Amino acid sequence: MPLILAIESSCDDSSVALLQGNRLIGMKQSGQKEHTRFGGVVPELASRAHQECLSLMLNDLMRDTSTSWFDIQVIAYTRGPGLMGALMVGAALAKGLALSLDVPLIGVNHLHGHLVSHFVEQEPDEGIFPMLSLTVSGGHTHLVWLDSWLEGRILCETLDDAAGETFDKCAKMLGLPYPGGPVLDRLASQGNPGAHTWPMPQLGNASYSFSGLKTSVLYYLAKHQPNLSDCAESSLHDLCASIQANVVEVLMKPVKHYARQMKPRSLGLAGGVAANSLLRSRMLALGEQLGCAVHIPPLSWCTDNAAMIAASARILLEQGVIHLEALGEKPLPRWPLMDYFRDLSSLNLSQKSGS
Ligand code: KG4
Ligand code: ZN
Repeated sequence: MPLILAIESSCDDSSVALLQGNRLIGMKQSGQKEHTRFGGVVPELASRAHQECLSLMLNDLMRDTSTSWFDIQVIAYTRGPGLMGALMVGAALAKGLALSLDVPLIGVNHLHGHLVSHFVEQEPDEGIFPMLSLTVSGGHTHLVWLDSWLEGRILCETLDDAAGETFDKCAKMLGLPYPGGPVLDRLASQGNPGAHTWPMPQLGNASYSFSGLKTSVLYYLAKHQPNLSDCAESSLHDLCASIQANVVEVLMKPVKHYARQMKPRSLGLAGGVAANSLLRSRMLALGEQLGCAVHIPPLSWCTDNAAMIAASARILLEQGVIHLEALGEKPLPRWPLMDYFRDLSSLNLSQKSGS
């Protein structure tokens, strides 16, 4: 298997990784602290931070793994979706390297990277399909039915906020630092999830929505706890636990529905919010109840990272369905997973027919 160097820069995490087959030779990852004081990601700051740290990280990775530039056989990078400026920084680095090392370049869909993030160090096993996989991050929330690594369809997606964005916005209202998801998760472990009842969207199983929860939390706080600094610690814990319970219940309802109706061979959970302790345990419990395997990446591969981008490129190479990029192709800030699957399937057909 070729040695793949992967670069991730779609949002506010810079990361580089070296992967050969299922051996992760090394990875560097760095979250950006610049956004904390703004309570959310500032796109221009994200681009500048990637610009400052990606090449330094890359040099560190090469040195720490004793890899020579001439050992690299493929460059993979996140082509989209994500912030345009941030993607451009990673794309420029990837293209410069591909050109100077004279190796192929593969533009990876970030959402496909999340989908395969559990399989970085595993042999991709076709026996896991069909798989019902929930991707939950700061920018995306969708439930995908996967027939293979390269074919699938979306069963349920959000109409408004993503799950991670909901955690972050609720946490911000509670006066917690950005990104609020992990902090809210930690505080929730000491609270009572039944202390508050938040609205559940009545949307069936084809759509998620989190805007009702966000508005209810806003009105509740304005009415009952306008001055958060006076809020007792236990009350903050109860708010976190009940908000977390609501988000997880909303996420799991369609998962349970489709898992019972369509009987997948396995369940998957990926994306930054896959680090959430309650969501992980609910997914594992469902798998146990239905007798199917559950694939959840370790915590370090839940948030954005280059190992999953390398894993996605590796799967494309193994499946023989690759679109080697011309250097002039642009990043794709909006690149829906379904468009990606469609492109892969037409590429697959044309490669099989030899055209
Ligand atoms: O996948 P990711 O690193 O970046 C995007 O592609 O968006 O996901 C980041 C999101 C943030 O919203 C963060 O608050 C959330 O994942 N997150 C969590 C937890 N850890 C990270 N949300 C809930 N509980 C956690 N433990
Ligand atoms: Zn992501």
